[in-house]
Amino acid sequence: ILHMLSVSLFYVCLLPLPSSSTFQSTGRSVGVRYTQGNWEGVLGTDLVSLPKGPNGTIAINIAAIQLSDSFFLPGIDWQGILGLAYPMLARPDSSVEPFFNSVVNQLGIPNMFSLQMCGAGLSDSSAVNPPAGSLIMGGAEPTLYRGSIWYTPIVEEWYYQVEVLKLEVGDQSLNLDCKEYNVDKAIVDSGTTLLRLPINVFNAVVETITRSSQIENFSSGFWDGTKLACWKKDENPMELFPKLSIYLRATNASQSFRITILPQLYIQPIVDTENNLGCFRFGMSPSSSGLVIGATVMEGFYVVFDRSQKKLGFALSSCAVSDGKPLSEIAGPFSAADVAADCSGGVLKEPVLWMISYALVAVCALILIGLLLLLLPCRHRDRGEITDESSLVRHRIK
Ligand SMILES: *[C@@H]1O[C@H](CO)[C@@H](O)[C@H](O)[C@H]1NC(C)=O
Ligand SMILES: *[C@@H]1O[C@H](CO)[C@@H](O)[C@H](O)[C@H]1NC(C)=O
Repeated sequence: ILHMLSVSLFYVCLLPLPSSSTFQSTGRSVGVRYTQGNWEGVLGTDLVSLPKGPNGTIAINIAAIQLSDSFFLPGIDWQGILGLAYPMLARPDSSVEPFFNSVVNQLGIPNMFSLQMCGAGLSDSSAVNPPAGSLIMGGAEPTLYRGSIWYTPIVEEWYYQVEVLKLEVGDQSLNLDCKEYNVDKAIVDSGTTLLRLPINVFNAVVETITRSSQIENFSSGFWDGTKLACWKKDENPMELFPKLSIYLRATNASQSFRITILPQLYIQPIVDTENNLGCFRFGMSPSSSGLVIGATVMEGFYVVFDRSQKKLGFALSSCAVSDGKPLSEIAGPFSAADVAADCSGGVLKEPVLWMISYALVAVCALILIGLLLLLLPCRHRDRGEITDESSLVRHRIK
């Protein structure tokens, strides 16, 4: 009994009740593990009203976060995270209606939202002028974009999965099999900081950037994200780097359009460096879980998540401008006749590679069994946690 008492006291200390008087716990535990950081808590329901929205209060599912690790960075005043993906990604399971589904169902607004993410790639972003943006629920706001909206179909409704047909660095196509861009998926994710590229694609991009620019003997630490590159404040390193274009399948499947970011969006200033130096990090990283169009790219565009018509729209963002010049471009339509009819869900097809991967899986399984046996005593700590491959947007301020 004494032991149980101490356990429950410990429990109480760790589990403060949310201060909302309308929060009702379901008692179910819930957690998400990200590429960086994780959190755990308890699932409940609460009432929410939107200050600048349709008149009404909605009942929503919400997790009260009780424990987190490397999730809320020190000194950052975030209070939580709002997931906007489909029910398939809901935790603890897909029967938990996500926030935006509840908004649509209870307020009757159109089933679409749009995002304008601003500021982080711009040199004047700082602690005084922090990254900002807008979430528009129920439609698209014309003052936040310029030109027309180009749409690409949502391939599968879980993450916002799209089909990437081609990548260009400067005016050079990478010329990889289009399936390489979509192994094992290509998604648009505002919760991911960087443009994440499958390893083959990442290597090809870095190789093409170094070849097409005058920076051959750049430290490899810059490309792998462990080092910054610094220039004197009066130098303009951006002219050393090429543009980067991503071709997406158009709603007419025999066409594509391209979204292009200028180097100002992927060579990202880090504030708080020495006085006469401007230091930058590389805004792309290699990925073993698919291509992720994260904030690095999204900051160039107003992105419309048109769930009612199962398509994603891109338009030029009104805030992706520096010194009066746009930092992004959109062009199309292009013929998609030169790529496969279906590039999505790409997997390696070569039989030899399959055999190698089966062999590797077998080896891994053996090693894993050994590891699991070793880890058995502490395995309970992972109970109830879920793996989520996306990573969390990080401020660029150290
Ligand atoms: C919202 O609803 C409340 C209560 O029903 C009402 O008093 C208020 O005037 C409404 N506001 C708007 C902007 O419709
Ligand atoms: C789709 O694109 C093809 C190729 O450009 C074109 O021939 C066709 O007319 C388009 N279909 C529609 C419905 O616009």
